[in-house]
Amino acid sequence: MKTGLEIETPVIVLNVKAYVESAGRKGFELAKICEEVASERGVSIAICPQQVELALIASSVNIPCFAQHVDAVEPGSHTGFITLESIKETGATGSLVNHSEHRLKIADIDGIIEKAASLDLLTIVCTNNIVVSKAVAELNPYAIAVEPPELIGTGKSVSKVDPGIVEDTVKEVKRVDERCVVLCGAGVTNGEDVRASIELGADGVLLASGVVKAKDPKAALLDLVSGL
Ligand code: G3P
Repeated sequence: MKTGLEIETPVIVLNVKAYVESAGRKGFELAKICEEVASERGVSIAICPQQVELALIASSVNIPCFAQHVDAVEPGSHTGFITLESIKETGATGSLVNHSEHRLKIADIDGIIEKAASLDLLTIVCTNNIVVSKAVAELNPYAIAVEPPELIGTGKSVSKVDPGIVEDTVKEVKRVDERCVVLCGAGVTNGEDVRASIELGADGVLLASGVVKAKDPKAALLDLVSGL
């Protein structure tokens, strides 16, 4: 199921994870940098703030904000879980689902995708390979982000080291659902990595350390957007 909502592509999605460099005030500044670069360069950038900052950041910046994770639970007696309803309340655009650092069961992914669509929230479901990407495409998420876990945080871009996984994921996912947005991630660090991803057919990239851990995050982001 699809919602009417969309984000512009090609897009750079920055997942700030739980790094020290993205906590509290620093996370807020990263979100402001994304907003500035998106508006100065006329490009599409989305951010996944640390979960505790989602409401603040979603209400403070004019770019799409996504939760980093959502749990497959109904609102109620669950401690420390994150519901789609609470994400909706923050004003966020949607959520990452099944990140390799926070995996879910396939039945839960299915339930989350369906319910998110009914709440007008977008789902970006992370996958680890072509077969899983193809299987997830059958569930009709808004987007799929393929990320080989072994390349995450290495600075070695999937689009350079393993172009086949990007190209074939795009091909297989679009064969199942041509409207599904396909992102790639893991090790994406500079504009060349982004350009290579787009040339392989991806609609954008999902990345973290290349910006969050950079000495100058704005310069890193400007370099990345040069590849769009
Ligand atoms: O969610 C993005 C991520 O897993 C890739 O991380 O640090 O390799 O860009 P990184």
